[in-house]
Amino acid sequence: MSWLNEEPRRRKLLAPVAGLIAGTVLALAGPASLEAHGASSTLGAAAADSGRYFGAAVAAGRLGDSTYSTILDREFNMITPENEMKWDTTEPSRGNFNFGPADQIVSHASAHGQRMRGHTLVWHGQLPGWVSSIGDAGTLRSVMNNHITTVMNHYKGKIYAWDVVNEAFADGSTQHRSSVFQNVLGNGFIEEAFRTARSVDPAAKLCYNDYNIENWSDAKTQGVYAMVKDFKARGVPIDCVGLQSHFGSGGPPAGFQTTLSNFAALGVDVQITELDIAQASLTAYGNTVRACMNVARCTGITVWGIRDSDSWRSGENPLLFDGNGNKKPAYDAVLSALGGEGNTGGGIVSGTVYSVSNAAAGRVLDVPSGQTGNGTSVQVWDANGTAANQQWRASQNSDGSYTLTNVGSGRVLDEPGGQTANGTQMVIWDANGGANQHWRASRNGDGSYTLTNVASGRALETPGGLTANGTPVQIWDSNGGANQHWNFK
Ligand code: G3I
Repeated sequence: MSWLNEEPRRRKLLAPVAGLIAGTVLALAGPASLEAHGASSTLGAAAADSGRYFGAAVAAGRLGDSTYSTILDREFNMITPENEMKWDTTEPSRGNFNFGPADQIVSHASAHGQRMRGHTLVWHGQLPGWVSSIGDAGTLRSVMNNHITTVMNHYKGKIYAWDVVNEAFADGSTQHRSSVFQNVLGNGFIEEAFRTARSVDPAAKLCYNDYNIENWSDAKTQGVYAMVKDFKARGVPIDCVGLQSHFGSGGPPAGFQTTLSNFAALGVDVQITELDIAQASLTAYGNTVRACMNVARCTGITVWGIRDSDSWRSGENPLLFDGNGNKKPAYDAVLSALGGEGNTGGGIVSGTVYSVSNAAAGRVLDVPSGQTGNGTSVQVWDANGTAANQQWRASQNSDGSYTLTNVGSGRVLDEPGGQTANGTQMVIWDANGGANQHWRASRNGDGSYTLTNVASGRALETPGGLTANGTPVQIWDSNGGANQHWNFK
């Protein structure tokens, strides 16, 4: 048993200590996510409650975008540089090292109490041509070991875990893929890289990282498992396996948790290192996070980007925040699965009846008394106790959106079919499951929700400046105003 591999479960208040052990300098104030009172309301804090981290891939070029960095520093306590520590950036020509872009990210992390995953030392991708064209084993061995040594020394004490070798196995196979390292150095290059890495920074965790190793029965998973088993048996230093987890819309394969626990049983930590899921279904995200939570040595989860617009798969909207930085339904599913606030406290609970009040008007969503027919306009009015015409049952749909059923009329909040323009007034109508009756709820900083209609993509609002009793509610482009903020009570 190696003490290096033991990661004791930490309570949230001890999380900063772990940052110090990893050499991260914490700002005195510390991030909000690590403060006791906010412990369960952000991804990072909720993960820390069980001794885990929640991270994001970060691009240095986006740190100056305040929407981006605000979310980063509020929600995430681990950072992986998306591209900045790759070989084409760090050693573009032999012996010439460039740490500028990665240093920006490491400084940001230090200033905000976030730990770092180093990504990546030996990989066939983003590898400069001068390396790929080396044909002599002695030269390549020395170049590889010099690269590992120089990069790890530069960041010594500042990196929690390194992806020492990335994606060395071939798809659909138990064998290594073809690469300059494999072809010139042979099978032993992975072992050599890990031994070199351990000698340079014995305090950093050393990980093997790959994709398509999430399904236990896949040949590639079996190949990586056999390698890790062999490394552990022979004392080759390895501390962790990263499962990238770039998933399709269905999320993780059925055996994902089995894979995590089988790797962990070899005596390594496992981590979900590059999570993104096409269309970000809340079920798929929830299942992924629950699988990690169910495995003691699954010590952290990193999503591969912050907003959908930051993603390498931006066309698939695979992340937890939309392009405007709003939390998506999958965010709540993740927070809830981490044991945080999620949908179980303070969130909209499916099946619950609410009064829904507009933050600007101070009045509630109301179907005019006595009018219950299809097409009746919905308005705001002074809250009137628990009158049924002002009560709405929220039911969550499979896409994560909600249907809001008016208790008095039994009909649902509806954007008239085919009418999606700014200024369209909302009505009640028989429930029909259409996107024009589906409302996405994104949590705002003040605890209210922005309700976005799935058909139009526009937000429910009281028209700007109009707050009187009887004001009809309409849809408009989301703008963050109080007239688009709705409180569920
Ligand atoms: O910065 C240049 C820009 O100047 C240039 O104009 C433009 C032209 O294509 O390219 C820009 O660089 C791009 C870079 O991302 C930064 O945006 C590269 O072309 C592009 O290839 C690169 O893609 C990265 C990809 O790795 C390359 O392999 C993605 O951002 C990054 O998310 C992705 O991350 C990988 C992990 O490292 C390993 N696992 C898979 C994962 C997803 O592919």
